[in-house]
Amino acid sequence: MGKDVIVACDFDSAEKTLDFLSLFKDKKPFVKIGMELFYAEGPDMVRRIKDRGHRIFLDLKLHDIPNTVRKAMAVLSRLDVDMCNVHAAGTVAMMEAALEGLVRADGTRPLLIAVTQLTSTDQDRLEKDLLIREPMEEVVMHYAKNAKSAGLDGVVCSPLEAQTVHSACGNGFLTVTPGVRFADGDKGDQKRVMTPAQARLAGSDYIVVGRPVTAAADPVAAYEKCVKEFCL
Ligand code: C5P
Repeated sequence: MGKDVIVACDFDSAEKTLDFLSLFKDKKPFVKIGMELFYAEGPDMVRRIKDRGHRIFLDLKLHDIPNTVRKAMAVLSRLDVDMCNVHAAGTVAMMEAALEGLVRADGTRPLLIAVTQLTSTDQDRLEKDLLIREPMEEVVMHYAKNAKSAGLDGVVCSPLEAQTVHSACGNGFLTVTPGVRFADGDKGDQKRVMTPAQARLAGSDYIVVGRPVTAAADPVAAYEKCVKEFCL
């Protein structure tokens, strides 16, 4: 599995998204479509980006009863996305159901990864809001192992956790890591960040990069810098 850079297209309209993607003349970056764009424009946005030749990570983080997730995943799989995700907190049974739903008539399916704990949740919230008393790292690893035992392909995690996830779940278990910034870049609201080069050394399989590319003066150059640092 080759390493790749996934560009988070966090835009609120089709027009902004397609204007942005049109900057990439001959390149076809792997694109992440999240809730904002999906809820604004619907499944047709996925088809339009797919038709332009991009691979798509549909980041909708499903979390519901297993039967509902199985059926929802069957619908998303028909959109021909390449990667999608669920919350590991939905249980092993829910993750297994998600995987079942994703398998297409021809036997293929998108990659399925799990969110362990959101990076916006800290130890204090884990204990006070969620009544989970174990250390965050233990919770993240436990959820990663649950995802692996349900047959999922990997997890979304911080690049700082990539090595530990690989040692617990094997090197073939994918780590998809947001929280990436250039050494001289603005961190924005991300707290624990790594550069693309550091993420490569940490063993990330895919980096998810949003604003360092989408808000750059020259997005294509910023994307190419990510690829050069991370993939080559
Ligand atoms: O702009 P930035 O590079 O911070 O974008 C990171 C992307 O990854 C956003 O779409 C954000 O929602 C997503 N993400 C994240 N942290 C997580 C899960 C997803 O930053 N734990």
